[in-house]
Amino acid sequence: MKWLGYFMCLVSAGGGITPAFASVTDQKPLSDEPGDSRNPFTHKFKAYASDTLEKWHLPGMAIAVIDGNETFYQGLGLSNLKSQTPVTESTLFMTGSTTKAFTDAVLGILIASGNYSSFEKDNKPLSWTTPLSAILPEDFVMSSDWATRHLTLDDAVSHRTGLPRHDKASGRFYPTSSDYPSSSSSPQKWHTATPRDVVRSLRYLPLTYEPRTKWQYCNLMYVALTHVVQTITNQKMGSLLRDLIWGPLGMDSTYYGIEEVTGDKKLATGYYWDETSQKHGVLPIVEQPEIAGAGLVISSVADYSRWIRSLVEMSGPLGTEVHREVRRVRMVEGDSKETEGPFDGPTAYAAGWTVGSYRGKRFFTHGGMMEAFGTTVVWFPEERYGVVSMGNTAVEGCAVGEVLVWGLVDERFGVGRGERFDWGGKWSKVKQIIADKIDNAVEVLFPDHPEKPLPPSRPLDHYTGTYFHPAYLNMTIELGTDKDTLRADRTAFTWQTISDFKHVSGEWWVMYSTLSHANGSRVLVDIAKVEFKVGVSDKVSSVGVEWRETIGDEIEGLIWYERVD
Ligand SMILES: *[C@@H]1O[C@H](CO)[C@@H](O)[C@H](O)[C@H]1NC(C)=O
Ligand SMILES: *[C@@H]1O[C@H](CO)[C@@H](O)[C@H](O)[C@H]1NC(C)=O
Ligand SMILES: *[C@@H]1O[C@H](CO)[C@@H](O)[C@H](O)[C@H]1NC(C)=O
Ligand SMILES: *[C@@H]1O[C@H](CO)[C@@H](O)[C@H](O)[C@H]1NC(C)=O
Repeated sequence: MKWLGYFMCLVSAGGGITPAFASVTDQKPLSDEPGDSRNPFTHKFKAYASDTLEKWHLPGMAIAVIDGNETFYQGLGLSNLKSQTPVTESTLFMTGSTTKAFTDAVLGILIASGNYSSFEKDNKPLSWTTPLSAILPEDFVMSSDWATRHLTLDDAVSHRTGLPRHDKASGRFYPTSSDYPSSSSSPQKWHTATPRDVVRSLRYLPLTYEPRTKWQYCNLMYVALTHVVQTITNQKMGSLLRDLIWGPLGMDSTYYGIEEVTGDKKLATGYYWDETSQKHGVLPIVEQPEIAGAGLVISSVADYSRWIRSLVEMSGPLGTEVHREVRRVRMVEGDSKETEGPFDGPTAYAAGWTVGSYRGKRFFTHGGMMEAFGTTVVWFPEERYGVVSMGNTAVEGCAVGEVLVWGLVDERFGVGRGERFDWGGKWSKVKQIIADKIDNAVEVLFPDHPEKPLPPSRPLDHYTGTYFHPAYLNMTIELGTDKDTLRADRTAFTWQTISDFKHVSGEWWVMYSTLSHANGSRVLVDIAKVEFKVGVSDKVSSVGVEWRETIGDEIEGLIWYERVD
């Protein structure tokens, strides 16, 4: 199972077959719109799509299809439930990790221009094999010296640096003190995060594999790429994107970060589904400059259709050489178990795109998931065909997106109903895996826990206080609302959560982290193993959290936070 979680979707997994909107006998592209034989948004499709949105409690979704020279749009459902505003092709959504393709395209344009130096000793021009540390000697330092010296732009682009996600280290604020990050004492003054802060914290994050041995999706490396781009050009990523790509393509409703979406620009309201109350809740949108080129873009399917068309046709501002670089495969993503799904073989990562083959046809795809939004993009260059969906919940936005996008693909290529992959089933499985993990957290994390738990060695108020790690920053622990529980407010992080600690035995606890604005939603909950260390004095001196991926078995690292307060 490959879960690309936060600000990106997964690519494959699952199994089984589901009925879709085509009838068994009619496997040709359907149309019941008179005079427009290629319009994929038939009455049948729209009915099926509405049912799918309802089933997954997704308020709204926009879809664009580019097919040959034509582009078709469809809005489904609502961008705001209260005002009953319908979604249209110009409704704005946060497009999450589909930002990465833009970051790489900008980098490609800069490299192809030949205008920039690699800052290496022989002063070669900037290239995909330039080490990040040549450009950012002070800032780009990894926990392994070899990695610091050798990791290249290509490695960062293709998620093969050895650094796992560490998404939960990404802070919205960083210490201001001049000696950060070299000092490990907790600073008192903090400022709003910049890409540079995130990059400077990397040296404190454990690598989990040797560089270039395993594909491990990593947002933080795209923050590093953003810092590289801004450093060599001395310009902001947002203005480079506009000048080099969005402006030339006429993508006038595409933005870099929420602060650019002002006035009457219509950003869809982001929701989550509260299983307890069976109602939608609103997720407030905050500025997140720290995620930068990993996921800051806001756009519409109308604008994305222009981008996808340029990619499919190798046209527009990128130029042939950059288009080739965008498509160049850099890393195989996983073994056959992980790529289990409807594809012809394993998938691989190019520059911001997963590449694969579906029924003999080459395709490029990427998802984008934010707390309250889900985007799916797929394009088949040889077929001059592409589809994008944007929805206004996270997991369901991606689930419905894949169901409908691949449903359209199947319809376009005449894939019979009985041969179709069950995309909805895959996502049901994802949700089930998360639910099981939460329900069985103690067993999963502590298979050897004793029948009769030992009590904690100190009264619970000895465990409260602020603990600090130079990359994972603050962990401020208070008494929980229930007896024998502790809690930490982690809303100062990109992944804004409340972490509830439940006692297991002795100094061992389970930590459940729930999105702070989405209480009642069980779709994005993290579990972690926690251990407290008690010093010779009465003090609880440190807390160790074994962070792991939101879904999947990968442990990202055991992080020790030292008491500072
Ligand atoms: C598609 O557009 C291109 C360029 O404008 C044109 O040469 C071609 O004839 C068009 N194809 C069709 C099927 O309309
Ligand atoms: C590269 O330099 C040329 C000449 O100064 C300039 O016209 C061009 O815009 C530059 N391109 C980039 C991507 O910096
Ligand atoms: C981190 O903890 C320190 C010490 O308690 C505090 O001064 C600082 O404001 C905290 N920073 C954030 C971002 O919460
Ligand atoms: C979430 O709701 C439950 C039950 O209503 C409550 O016990 C818990 O404290 C809430 N958590 C947060 C983070 O508000």
